[in-house]
Amino acid sequence: MYRTHTCGELTLAHVGQQVTLCGWVQRNRLLGGMTFIDLRDRYGITQLVFDMERNATLCAEANRLGREYVIQASGVVKERINKNPNLPTGDIEIFVDELTILNASEVPPFLIENETDGNEELRLRYRYLDIRRPKLRDALITRAKICRAVREYLDDKNFVEIETPNLIKSTPEGARDFLVPSRLVKGSFYALPQSPQILKQLLMVAGMDRYYQIVKCYRDEDFRGDRQPEFTQVDCEMSFVHQEDIFETFGGLIRYVFKKVLQYELPELPKLKYDEALRLYGTDKPDLRFDCRIVELNELLPASDFAVFNNTLNSGGLIAGINATGCASYSRKQLDELTEFVKAPHRGLGGLIHIRFTEDGSVKSSIDKFFTEEQLRQIGAAFQAQKGDLLLIAADKHTKVRKSLGDLRLELAKRHGWMDEKKWSVLWVVDFPLFEQDEETGQITFAHHPFCSPHPDDLPYFDKEPLRVRAQTYDMVINGNEILSGSIRIHDPAIQEKVFQKLGLSKEEQEKKFGFLLNAFKYGAPPHGGCAFGLDRIVMLMTGGETIRDVIAFPKTSGGRDLMMDAPTPVEKKQLDELGITLKQ
Ligand code: AMO
Repeated sequence: MYRTHTCGELTLAHVGQQVTLCGWVQRNRLLGGMTFIDLRDRYGITQLVFDMERNATLCAEANRLGREYVIQASGVVKERINKNPNLPTGDIEIFVDELTILNASEVPPFLIENETDGNEELRLRYRYLDIRRPKLRDALITRAKICRAVREYLDDKNFVEIETPNLIKSTPEGARDFLVPSRLVKGSFYALPQSPQILKQLLMVAGMDRYYQIVKCYRDEDFRGDRQPEFTQVDCEMSFVHQEDIFETFGGLIRYVFKKVLQYELPELPKLKYDEALRLYGTDKPDLRFDCRIVELNELLPASDFAVFNNTLNSGGLIAGINATGCASYSRKQLDELTEFVKAPHRGLGGLIHIRFTEDGSVKSSIDKFFTEEQLRQIGAAFQAQKGDLLLIAADKHTKVRKSLGDLRLELAKRHGWMDEKKWSVLWVVDFPLFEQDEETGQITFAHHPFCSPHPDDLPYFDKEPLRVRAQTYDMVINGNEILSGSIRIHDPAIQEKVFQKLGLSKEEQEKKFGFLLNAFKYGAPPHGGCAFGLDRIVMLMTGGETIRDVIAFPKTSGGRDLMMDAPTPVEKKQLDELGITLKQ
């Protein structure tokens, strides 16, 4: 037997017992004829003591142990004189009488502690050492707990966990596929699933009724903090359900997980319409831990000679703003920073108008030339502006104004700590549009995927005003992050045909891309719907991680590289020959 206990479990109750522990040397200190070693394993840290007077040879041996040596130590548990209240094992220490070095270690390239000196690139290269740090170790343990809670809940509700293949035909999720060349069918490729979307729908046709899978998905996108080329979904599908059943089941799931893992009672999830989310918060994933809503001014503005406003109104644009409460004393420099913020290319505003309601009761603005004080106060009333408040107003196309003010709202909240960090904002966003229009080409595409059911009330707009058609699509948003998407699917071939037509897919293309699904639908498809949670994002939020890399054992860099294994890499010519592939120079 290697060990009798772990490094995280000994307390005063074990005093006097002879124990054996195994683990890694975290720290080694020599103090007044005694050697103290912090021994670490997954469960915690226990202090080992070697006494020069009792056993000089053993003590000398202990002194030679370097960081990250793997050792086995036996001895007696004693009560500590200097207790460490920060450690669960801080009341005891082990007086060692036997020591075995199980493995030596080279000096690790960075400090294996929460506050490490290693940068992320170095830590990704030595990820197995990084995972020894409590922060990462705990995130992975919480991840497992979350998965267990998910399974408990879904199993209890009669869902069946079913695996689906990884080598499939390309499915339409809107991103680029990762392709896998076939050796046996030269010139042909499998795609790695962007999600098991079609397969889970086929499982409903197959009569499985309730399916789920904790499953890897693969998308060749541009990666950010909340996106990885391979990520994990909790993928679910149900038959004979309406949207309300989905809200109840999966709202219930997230509440169960929060309760089980964080001991936190989430209330019933509120619902916010997509249109309203954009109008009030400038985004379809609003963070409602603080208020600060966007106020639209088109209808409220007094007439003026201010060309920016007049041009915007004439061209059908939007004039809107937010109230940065308590920010009236912002300096010129601070205001310039905010202007630069909204002028960034991905926001694209030309500038930002401000109105200050100063502490001394006066009103000052960048549009004093065009509006009387009375008129500015009228505008202020629309924001319930008080002394000390700063209004920030933008005028441009709807999309730009909303995006910029939505981002500004978050930026100000971060700067001024408006978010109550103990609070959770968890909600459904509903009534998404079925189609989107590409701003440049004017081409109509699907907003989520082509199998989402249109809202039955909106079918009359289908032909003439397709962009007005709402889908039975929903997202779940936690603290401003989209952590679930889903929809009620189309099970009526006539409606599916209409959607494909709108997307400009010819019969041949339909047949080529989705023939197997359309064929299956001829044999009795039940009404069905489902969703997929982004597991990595949930774990990141629940563990306070900054990116999903913080909660994935072996993640890729933002450039899509695995620094530890060094992938992707070129392969032998022989391998390419077998696949019938020649590389372009
Ligand atoms: P969607 O594409 O919205 O829907 O994905 C569902 C959820 O998965 C997470 N997610 C990601 N997480 C990390 N890295 C990525 N690259 C990434 N892409 C998506 C998000 C997202 O909300 N088949 C549909 C679901 C359905 O309709 O049932 C789908 O995949 O949290």
